[in-house]
Amino acid sequence: MTSQEIRQTFLDFFKEKAHQIVPSAPLVVKDDPTLMFTNAGMNPFKDLFLGNKPITVPRIANTQKCLRVSGKHNDLEEVGHDTYHHTMFEMLGNWSFGDYFKKEAIEWAWELLTQRYKLPTDRLYATVFGGDAADNLPQDTEAATLWAQFLPKERILQASKKDNFWEMGDTGPCGPCTEIHVDLRSEAERKAVEGATLVNQDHPQVIEIWNLVFMQFNRMADGSLVKLPKQHVDTGMGFERLTAALQGKKSNYDTDIFQPTIQHLGKKANLSYGQDTKADIALRVIADHIRAVAFAIADGEMPSNNKAGYVIRRILRRAVRYGYTFLGFREPFMYELVGLLAMQFADVFPELKSQQAFVEKVIQSEEEAFLRTLENGLRRLGQIFEQNQNATAKKIEGELVFELYDTFGFPADLTALIARENGFDIDEKGFEKAMQTQKERSRAAASSDKSDWQELQVSEGVQVEFLGYERLESQAKILKYRQIKEKNKTFYQIVLDQTPFYAESGGQVGDTGLLVSVEDASDTIEIFDTQKENDLIIHLSTKLPKNPSATFRATVNAQKRHHTANNHSATHLLHAALREVLGEHVQQKGSLVNENLLRFDFSHFAKMSEEEILKVESLVNQRIRKNILLQEMRNVPLEDAKKMGAMALFGEKYGEFVRVIVFDKDYSVELCGGTHVAATGQIGFFKIVREESVAAGVRRIEAITAEKAEQFVQEQNLLLNTLKETLKNPKDLTKTVQDLIEDKKRLEKEIERLQAKEIAQVREALLTKVKLHQGDINLIAEKVEVPHAEALKTLAFGIRQQIDRLFMVLTAEIEARPHIAIAISDKLVEDKGLDASKIIKDLAKHIQGGGGGQKFFATAAGKNAAGLKEVLEKAKDLV
Ligand code: ALA
Repeated sequence: MTSQEIRQTFLDFFKEKAHQIVPSAPLVVKDDPTLMFTNAGMNPFKDLFLGNKPITVPRIANTQKCLRVSGKHNDLEEVGHDTYHHTMFEMLGNWSFGDYFKKEAIEWAWELLTQRYKLPTDRLYATVFGGDAADNLPQDTEAATLWAQFLPKERILQASKKDNFWEMGDTGPCGPCTEIHVDLRSEAERKAVEGATLVNQDHPQVIEIWNLVFMQFNRMADGSLVKLPKQHVDTGMGFERLTAALQGKKSNYDTDIFQPTIQHLGKKANLSYGQDTKADIALRVIADHIRAVAFAIADGEMPSNNKAGYVIRRILRRAVRYGYTFLGFREPFMYELVGLLAMQFADVFPELKSQQAFVEKVIQSEEEAFLRTLENGLRRLGQIFEQNQNATAKKIEGELVFELYDTFGFPADLTALIARENGFDIDEKGFEKAMQTQKERSRAAASSDKSDWQELQVSEGVQVEFLGYERLESQAKILKYRQIKEKNKTFYQIVLDQTPFYAESGGQVGDTGLLVSVEDASDTIEIFDTQKENDLIIHLSTKLPKNPSATFRATVNAQKRHHTANNHSATHLLHAALREVLGEHVQQKGSLVNENLLRFDFSHFAKMSEEEILKVESLVNQRIRKNILLQEMRNVPLEDAKKMGAMALFGEKYGEFVRVIVFDKDYSVELCGGTHVAATGQIGFFKIVREESVAAGVRRIEAITAEKAEQFVQEQNLLLNTLKETLKNPKDLTKTVQDLIEDKKRLEKEIERLQAKEIAQVREALLTKVKLHQGDINLIAEKVEVPHAEALKTLAFGIRQQIDRLFMVLTAEIEARPHIAIAISDKLVEDKGLDASKIIKDLAKHIQGGGGGQKFFATAAGKNAAGLKEVLEKAKDLV
């Protein structure tokens, strides 16, 4: 079977078993602070397991893009070195939400693997949970009994909590699991060593392919387990491993999933896969990493310097440097692979194909930047080698290795490799230490300490009602709350049974407002923000009410909401206008909407021209003046919404039913959960205030609306009027200003010319005033008229060149300030030990000033011009 057929067979099988097939959620997680990336197929369903959301569809199956490169599940360092770990991989999964349990899960797994996929039964092993004393959990005899229908006893193995108790993260849903392992070794190898001894031993050909988790608990922050309201099934099968097994390959990279990419790279590097261990690792690393990078970018995560964006940047750099070191690539090469992937996944993950040019551009420019960094890093290393060529211990300090790692993205093993080639060692311990220190620093900075939820009312399975589309006020009871301690602040998260507060999402900021106790108005707390965690609406407050069990009146800050709605609706109009003016390639890449402004990031390759900006602005304002009524549709099936022309944003997680916001069905149709104006007229006026680049292929527009926009225009107008008045109301302001600039340039030139002439005259005059003193000193001590201090200096230097054995003191008043310059011929400095910089200090006292310089030339400036006379007398005395 091709990999495509293998995937389809899985989905068809579970469809037959009454599962609904859903699309993969995005790779990048937005509404869950405990996760950066989707790390398991069950992530999007976390709230169903926890009972935060009512179950509507009890059976679901899909293939989910997963990324295990951070947090509890992190495989990054293994990737490429072995043949069965990946950064991005597909997890085939089937789920039961409070529906079937162990029996069906195990029996169907067996049926699919052995009857549909026809895996030889004698190569399969099952592990079951052996119990855990610390968690007070018994061993899973039920699963073992179920397996006994299919497998002999010696191929049903007990495993510990580490392998067979699956947890999503430090907290969250979890439960015992049973895993299916497959032995892919040759017959001879299997005869020689019993497969059972190799299960869970990191053997590259005896690997886990499917994990069936029996979700029963919630792991609390204090480490305890709380039983979930219902029992669920969560399974995950590694698609790439399954494909290797079914295609009879010993490595995932030998399957048709990775081979096209590897072949392409091999050709480019002029080598073939399987001939050189190091090159092979590099080929695997790149073939793997390009998937993670390309799909993350397609899902809206741009490489950057923080959080998820940084992880993507690091993965990309890891691949680039493997290509650089082991395949000899000096030019960007990763971006060329995007087309292959886009084609390969066009049916399952179309998000890549539809953004291919954009993703290529982003990757290419990242590669270019990193290749430059790499070369700079290599240069830095080169210097270190040179400086330490004669050192006794040729070891590169750990701090330095860390600097290379931190600033230039050099992994320690790369530094070690280059060092070795140059006869150096690296201080690995020192590096580890520096690394540890940094980790602790960032952990301390990011640490937040959450208490467990305090439940005041039954909240399991209750769908909290959001009333904020209709109302800004409602009654509310607190369902649960918890305390969050972060480095600089402590606050509370509060969940209400119903709420008018909009939780930050889709770029729109969260509402602020008040909770006032109905029984005691003095018992009021302020809500400073509202956020979403998965599907929970969380109100943030620095304190709790005196009586949290009271009934409250929840009131949203109406003015803020009103302005925010203006900006949100304007964002939709802008999006439509951009597509009209620039083209259909414009895709939303990010947005921020608050009460002050709207910021919209979108894919587009060139700077917008002034004309395009004006056109977009006009289009939006036209739509505002038309006063188009808001058409809000809730619970529209996703497919219907798409048929209406609504674009689903890549990287957004949509349910089966969506909300559609329409401002003229032929103009703006968007999937959106935000709050909007009732009619566009309310926006009043729209003004773009900035257009700039934020990343390769991404432009950003910042705009304002309503009063803010009006105020902006008034201020600009005021500025213009003031300017006109200052210039005596010329007919053509631009021309007048241009003329002024031209005139100024011309006059400056003229002044320069005249001043040069003046200085020349002064010099001529001075030359006639030289007096011979004591037969060997040519003295000049004169007050001169010069236009600026620079002229005094030029003058002094000029004369010093012309006259031998010169001792000259010049004074001048420049813009009412006294100046002195002393010039002494080198001969006099030598013969008589004269020092202008010392003499000037003395002379400067007479003008209440200070100065300095060198032995042959010094200057000073001061405050008392009347003292200049004394300066000249003093100078003569001195001689
Ligand atoms: N959630 C389980 C896993 O990721 C299936 O292995």
